[in-house]
Amino acid sequence: MAATHNLEGPDPDRSDTIADLRVVITGGTSGLGLALVHELVARGARVAFVARDPSRVERVAAATGAHGIVGDVSRKEDIHPIALQAVGRLGGLDVLINNASSLGPVPLRPLGDTDCEDLEQALATNLVGPFRLTKALLGALAASAREGRGAVVLNVSSDAAINAYPGWGAYGASKAALHHLSRVWQEELASLGVRFLSLDPGDMDTPLHALAVPDADPTTLKAPADAARELGGAIERALLDLRSSLQAQPRDSVRFEGAATACA
Ligand SMILES: NC(=O)c1ccc[n+]([C@@H]2O[C@H](COP(=O)([O-])OP(=O)(O)OC[C@H]3O[C@@H](n4cnc5c(N)ncnc54)[C@H](OP(=O)(O)O)[C@@H]3O)[C@@H](O)[C@H]2O)c1
Repeated sequence: MAATHNLEGPDPDRSDTIADLRVVITGGTSGLGLALVHELVARGARVAFVARDPSRVERVAAATGAHGIVGDVSRKEDIHPIALQAVGRLGGLDVLINNASSLGPVPLRPLGDTDCEDLEQALATNLVGPFRLTKALLGALAASAREGRGAVVLNVSSDAAINAYPGWGAYGASKAALHHLSRVWQEELASLGVRFLSLDPGDMDTPLHALAVPDADPTTLKAPADAARELGGAIERALLDLRSSLQAQPRDSVRFEGAATACA
């Protein structure tokens, strides 16, 4: 199975596979997403990122040279504008990173005390949003695969997708569903040259972690920049693998319908 749940070590030679990649990152103004913007821009990728707060989007775009897109992945009416702006600005797409995430109710609480609306919001941001955006961008990703570049969708997961932590029910259920979705996408689209990864970055020193576990000691947590380097390495390995198999055998023609449409 190509979709995995563990990170391998960083790529030792940091080759130039990332250079000139066209990458979309959701949640690019904070924590891991921001670190990924920095990491991939520094390695020569063309990056577009998405977040809701316009002033933070503007600030990160100015600081990094990446294309900032204001949008909310949990809102279906935002998905096509995000996809159109991203593909328009990048001139195509090789890598989609579904990173933006909602914790659900904060402070975290047992499922019995979780409002249905809070569960719905976690699912909208962490599961349905990535699904809609992937669907909207599938045509562009498949085109990249057909051109022999390979295409990767990285869904950022969590150990809460696997372990039943009390208080993490809404978040954990949404991440578990996203992880399984990634595995099914992978089975369905492997023959097109589109690879799906579902990876847990580990516990990181980010605003999301501080919100979830306010009394955690930040010195015990991973730096988002380290996780971004590891994820960059995983994307790179997936692309190298895809490119060698794309050279070895021709791709199937596109077999899904409505590739450029998100769910209504
Ligand atoms: N931190 C950890 O220890 C940890 C552990 C395991 C997995 N993860 C996963 O790692 C990923 C990144 O987490 P993080 O800790 O870096 O989070 P973070 O610091 O809270 O950053 C979240 C980013 O996503 C954006 N965002 C949130 N909701 C959004 C929405 N609906 N539409 C568009 N953008 C949205 C935020 O900007 P706006 O608010 O302006 O939209 C921000 O840029 C998440 O998938 C998380 O589940 C984190």
